[in-house]
Amino acid sequence: MLQNKDKTKPIVLIVDDQYRSFRPLLRLISQDLFSPIWVPDEQQGLKTLKDQSMRVQVIVIDLKSSGMGGGGFLHRARQIAPQASVLITAPLGPFLYQAGTFYDFSGPTLKQDINTILLSIAQKMGIGHVPEKRNRTRESKERFGVIIGQSKGINEVYHLIENLKDSSATVMIQGESGTGKELVAQTIHQTSSRRNQPFVAINCGAIPANLMESELFGHERGAFTTAIHQRKGKFEVAHGGTLFLDEIGELDRELQVKLLRVLQEREFERVGGNRSYRTDVRIIAATSQDLKRSVRAGHFRDDLFYRLNVVPIHIPPLRERREDIPLLLDHFFHKIAKDMDRSVPLLTEEARSLLLDYSYQGNVRELTNIVERLLVICPNGKITYHDLPEEVRDEADSAPASTEMLKGLPDGGVPLQEIEKELILKTLKMTSWNKTATARMLGITRRLLYLRLSQYGASAP
Ligand SMILES: Nc1ncnc2c1ncn2[C@@H]1O[C@H](COP(=O)(O)OP(=O)(O)OP(=O)(O)O)[C@@H](O)[C@H]1O
Ligand SMILES: [Mg+2]
Repeated sequence: MLQNKDKTKPIVLIVDDQYRSFRPLLRLISQDLFSPIWVPDEQQGLKTLKDQSMRVQVIVIDLKSSGMGGGGFLHRARQIAPQASVLITAPLGPFLYQAGTFYDFSGPTLKQDINTILLSIAQKMGIGHVPEKRNRTRESKERFGVIIGQSKGINEVYHLIENLKDSSATVMIQGESGTGKELVAQTIHQTSSRRNQPFVAINCGAIPANLMESELFGHERGAFTTAIHQRKGKFEVAHGGTLFLDEIGELDRELQVKLLRVLQEREFERVGGNRSYRTDVRIIAATSQDLKRSVRAGHFRDDLFYRLNVVPIHIPPLRERREDIPLLLDHFFHKIAKDMDRSVPLLTEEARSLLLDYSYQGNVRELTNIVERLLVICPNGKITYHDLPEEVRDEADSAPASTEMLKGLPDGGVPLQEIEKELILKTLKMTSWNKTATARMLGITRRLLYLRLSQYGASAP
């Protein structure tokens, strides 16, 4: 459990199994308004609630990353601390449960949304107001990390970012999940002349189609039944800056048409309004799909695709740039240890080599999660094989023996026949010279096995 020492401020209790998700929140919350406490699971969350029931004003619970049930916990939490607002960050966006009412924010789970929500709670409680604008620019500077990597693929990405710094050209970033699409988008913004203007991200896959239009373009009061107030859309909020359209491939057909129109005419109207607003935003779209295939399949409009695909950037998956893995591991061990105020742990030779060999299907995101977990479970010590996550150990254990054998291959190579002979004799030894079992294990016929044995002049001891 990590907590701020201040004993007088209202508490924001964060229940999230990943410390890393908590860090940006901590920065946002520590605007001297709240005192944050982070716990990794529901049980510890309930314990904190019992100890501090009166002081907890906000509970932030991440349903997606924690994989928690949520329901039972929330029920108990409301019994113990009925005054607390509950802010749930879920795949479909954060929503807030406050005094018996659900406020659906129906936006992506963005930290700045959560920040805005927390500030509005603080305001309602009469404990201060931080101007949103100042807050946003400060946050955006801190939020951006640096791109790590020396591989050819990453060098190409650096090169493209460098070339983009004096332009406002539309960019399309393609890359598997966790390869750093958002980081690259942020870096493009940060190195451009728009850097002091807002960087606004919206996840086209996380917002229901019927709300997306108002998300993008805003709405006027009364535009639809729940539109009690007029609201600015992301295009308006991002004016002068950069709009990051994440998972663009998920955008609904009807909205594809509307987006295309805005990109062509640089003008839009709020939902339910007829005034046109001019927009000056740099668009960066991202997708983890093969968008060209979606175009061929008729799911994505080709005219919109060409409008967006002005400067394409492809971020290769980590398996195609394994030379970046040691750099990333070192970088994140140092960075996360520093953020956690811990010393960098020592890795045994074996643990290090398994971490270097692991497949990282979830790319850099998975790598950072693993490093973080290791730092949480080995606060100050040494990381050994046994500390590694199960998936890393399992993968190493299940690596086929044949690839193990090949690891020690001499530079001059080995004749295939020699390997074959050794393999056959070793397998015979393993099966105590059971020829049927041996042939089955080697995937050959008994006839071929007998033939080879007579060629080697080998027989059972
Ligand atoms: N080359 C890199 N150097 C340093 N950090 C990186 C790099 N690539 C990714 N990261 C980090 O990995 C995490 C995932 O990156 P990011 O969110 O940008 O990926 P993404 O492609 O948008 O993933 P998703 O498809 O899951 O949304 C972030 O914490 C990011 O800072
Ligand atoms: Mg992303």
